[in-house]
Amino acid sequence: MYTSYQDAYRLSMENRDAFWSEAAGKIQWEKKWDKVLDDTRKPFYRWFTGGRLNTCYNAIDYHVANGRGGQTAIIYDSPVTGTVKKITYGEFLHEVSLVAGMLKNLGVAKGDRVIIYMPMIPETMYAMLACARIGAVHSVVFGGFAPNELAVRIEDAKPKVMISSSCGIEPKGAIAYKPLLDKAIELSSHKPERCVIHQRPQLKAELTAGRDLDWNEGLKAAKPAGCVTVEATDPLYILYTSGTTGKPKGVMRDNGGHAVALRWTMENIYNVKPGDVYWAASDVGWVVGHSYIVYGPLFYGCTTILYEGKPVGTPDPGAFWRVISEHDVKVLFTAPTAFRAIKKEDPTGSFVKKYDISCLKHLFLAGERLDPDTYHWASDLLKIPVIDHWWQTETGWAIAANCMGIEQLPVKAGSPTKPAPGFDVHIIDEAAKELPKGKEGVIGIRLPLPPACLPTLWENDEGFVSSYLTEYPGYYATGDGGYMDKDGYIYIMGRVDDVINVAGHRLSTGGMEEVVAKHKDVAECAVIGVNDVLKGQVPIGFVVLKAGVTKAAEEITKEVVAMVRGEIGALACLKDVAVVPRLPKTRSGKILRSTMRKIADGQEYKTPSTIEDPAALQEIEGAAKTIGYPKE
Ligand code: COA
Ligand code: AMP
Repeated sequence: MYTSYQDAYRLSMENRDAFWSEAAGKIQWEKKWDKVLDDTRKPFYRWFTGGRLNTCYNAIDYHVANGRGGQTAIIYDSPVTGTVKKITYGEFLHEVSLVAGMLKNLGVAKGDRVIIYMPMIPETMYAMLACARIGAVHSVVFGGFAPNELAVRIEDAKPKVMISSSCGIEPKGAIAYKPLLDKAIELSSHKPERCVIHQRPQLKAELTAGRDLDWNEGLKAAKPAGCVTVEATDPLYILYTSGTTGKPKGVMRDNGGHAVALRWTMENIYNVKPGDVYWAASDVGWVVGHSYIVYGPLFYGCTTILYEGKPVGTPDPGAFWRVISEHDVKVLFTAPTAFRAIKKEDPTGSFVKKYDISCLKHLFLAGERLDPDTYHWASDLLKIPVIDHWWQTETGWAIAANCMGIEQLPVKAGSPTKPAPGFDVHIIDEAAKELPKGKEGVIGIRLPLPPACLPTLWENDEGFVSSYLTEYPGYYATGDGGYMDKDGYIYIMGRVDDVINVAGHRLSTGGMEEVVAKHKDVAECAVIGVNDVLKGQVPIGFVVLKAGVTKAAEEITKEVVAMVRGEIGALACLKDVAVVPRLPKTRSGKILRSTMRKIADGQEYKTPSTIEDPAALQEIEGAAKTIGYPKE
């Protein structure tokens, strides 16, 4: 239908219906859609209304019915437990049908929510697909989140059932999940009816009588369940992501548009074929995991890798190369941080030489800015195309990418290339006026968004409109700033809000401030994201103490760090906090966070004319130095 990027993009803009109905033709529907794009309830656009399908059928049953039953669907590679296990599509179908049967026994039906708080093990994928199979809505919560974060999600999603494991395994050892789960349920006013607990041999959990069900016991009592057909527009999952406050946003994904767009991306962006081995080295708790460990590769009949390990330390910086060569990986997708971690431990890339990785054809990176140094290091080392692509939890797939399956465009280091078909990307100013090429502004996507992007927030249409659609009328506000060059290449300069990216994990500095502010000795605080050579960004904090506090500053900052770790999770990585006499503010009381960021990053800064007292900036400079910023 198209042989060049230009043709594909033009068609997706000029004839949306033709573009996406062709893609939808490759998905199995029980009933064909009535409308490709339904714009009868603007700004709530819906895709494929009237269509009926089942996501799990498309991801598993269809492949089994079409000769892939014996093909490996999942390769579970877990250096932290010393396990490699291959699961065929046939076995996958059996397991998922049983888990679906177990959920049915627990009373879970179409539309009910199930929260999955699990590590990187096959059972997590079984649980997700089992929900999809019976039309239940899953919400996977990243295992690194602390009970408070889990509680907020329980409160919002109101799950009937929760599924968890006894533990996750980090290189430093097993992390018990069950106490975290119990605490979260205690904190939440909504109580799930039942919890299914998958016991791992490394650390067993004690079950709560009457509420908890052992995974294996549940399966023993279950009969395999079939697929329940749902509307294309019915929710498949909710994935919570950080916004500017402590309350995460429940990004909703539908069934129809999601299947259509994700399958399309496998062929046209990632350039794989059914049967190929595709590896997204991320976590199922993040959007990259949802889209490219689980759904995308399965819709397309690929073999997906579920890797329970790190890029370094499990056991060494050759871990990725081992997995690639051992499992014949064709495409690797990960975050730049992973490559920076490998580069730090093995700057000359000596570990690559131990393995034959000639099977690897493309490396895709996303989740944070791909700095030119990392780009050049990776492409010099691997000698394959290194493709930066830009996306967000909300979109579910790349907004800008080099579509390798259509046509490889020349790569420009520092740019994720051009808008992907379906995304009408514009650089705009504060008044939503288009800016000329080369000029930096905020990045907006003209509505409608393509299939698989969030149709709304979970049970929060108003929040969807106010968070994304109000500030720049007619556009979806991405929250990112950047510019477009004269050739139409996009450059992402970073978030324009209080969201930061730590090791490819999206976190809210506003959310951290809410935790810090709860400390009884803290009068006010500011948490800002500063540059970090390994993790891209890390948060640092400045606190002002209440008058009359006599406790040592060092003790208070330690407590603040522990509070953030305890309430958000270790992944927040807030380690450095300084006490200051006051925060620099404008005369109207706005904290000058961007100037503080420049100071901590060691960049030149101008004293804003609106500042209340310029001396406050010198105080920040002094305090930043005491906690080691700017870094050498
Ligand atoms: N469960 C429990 N704790 C977790 C966890 C999980 N699933 N994931 C991370 N944590 C904890 C870690 O143990 C660590 O705790 P610590 O402070 O006690 O050491 C903390 O959260 C920070 O973890 P992490 O960001 O993984 O830092 P690290 O220093 O252990 O490792 C990297 C650094 C670069 C190796 C690691 O961040 C990495 O692999 N990044 C790849 C990026 C990625 O996959 N991003 C996903 C989006 S595509
Ligand atoms: P998440 O929702 O966790 O996937 O995070 C999305 C955010 O990560 C985006 O809004 C960007 O700020 C950032 N991001 C993702 N991919 C890229 C990229 N390729 N380049 C720069 N920033 C990126």
